[in-house]
Amino acid sequence: KKRVVSGVQPTGLVHLGNYLGAIKNWVALQDLYETFFFIVDLHAITLPYEAPQLSKSTRSTAAIYLACGIDSSKASIFVQSHVRAHIELMWLLSSSTPIGWLNKMIQFKEKSRKAGDENVGVALLTYPVLMASDILLYQSDLVPVGEDQTQHLELTREIAERVNNLYGGRKWKKMGGRGGSLFKVPEALIPPAGARVMSLTDGLSKMSKSAPSDQSRINLLDPKDVIVNKIKRCKTDSLPGLEFDNPERPECSNLLSVYQIITGKTKEEVVNECQDMNWGTFKATLTDALIGHLQPIQGNLLR
Ligand code: TYM
Repeated sequence: KKRVVSGVQPTGLVHLGNYLGAIKNWVALQDLYETFFFIVDLHAITLPYEAPQLSKSTRSTAAIYLACGIDSSKASIFVQSHVRAHIELMWLLSSSTPIGWLNKMIQFKEKSRKAGDENVGVALLTYPVLMASDILLYQSDLVPVGEDQTQHLELTREIAERVNNLYGGRKWKKMGGRGGSLFKVPEALIPPAGARVMSLTDGLSKMSKSAPSDQSRINLLDPKDVIVNKIKRCKTDSLPGLEFDNPERPECSNLLSVYQIITGKTKEEVVNECQDMNWGTFKATLTDALIGHLQPIQGNLLR
């Protein structure tokens, strides 16, 4: 059976992007593959944090995995820091990772710019090496993530190949070493829709936990009235009708995609249903669909 690993950082609240880009897809995978889903608390300390809040978020993120349908009788669910080998392997991989590879990481550049010099710890730079060890440790085949993680996955593959070349292979076998490949080179599994859910207040930036305004995202645990209000106030445009993939209308394309995924409809079905709607009608339809989809998840948490 193929192996699948993935994780979410326990920082802030899990939002619709995390759900549609990652967690929702994990649910189907647990029936097909051997799956490991962790809560990456060690990644969450790369920016300033409060310890009591972190342990609370770690538990609530685990609860959200379960509420979304990750089943502990099928998947292994655990906290990253509880398995020390993640950090041990990280050190070994660090010694084979050129610093130039890490300097190129877009998330590092963005996060370090936002954090300011005083808050940029070394771990913010070496963060992707820990992610590589999360993955390589389990000899994983597939890593289901949203689009923003593709560069980290590419780096993981490069690290695996480099270590395989440096320390695996025939050369070492002759000297009595193990030979062969040390690490399996994993592949990213990016969903065809939902890989990049955009902000509700700006269709050109992705929905994120760190955006200052809570209006920019739907949190999985937002109560009904909050969802109603956020969709009511979300950014739209003044063009007639609704359409996918018009670069002039990023918000429109984003909201239609969200609607498509949570209803399980095809793109064509959504086009037929929504192309002649006005924003008011579509917003009401989308709000109902979102609430209908999230209610069972929220209900599971209250049980
Ligand atoms: P994190 O915690 O930022 O995000 C968790 C997952 O959610 C996806 N995601 C999105 N998908 C679609 N639209 C969005 N707006 C959006 N925002 C976030 C992310 O792509 C991710 O799949 N470094 C990782 C966590 C990690 C990991 C790993 C993942 C650590 N080790 C090993 C896989 C395997 C991160 O910070 O994700």
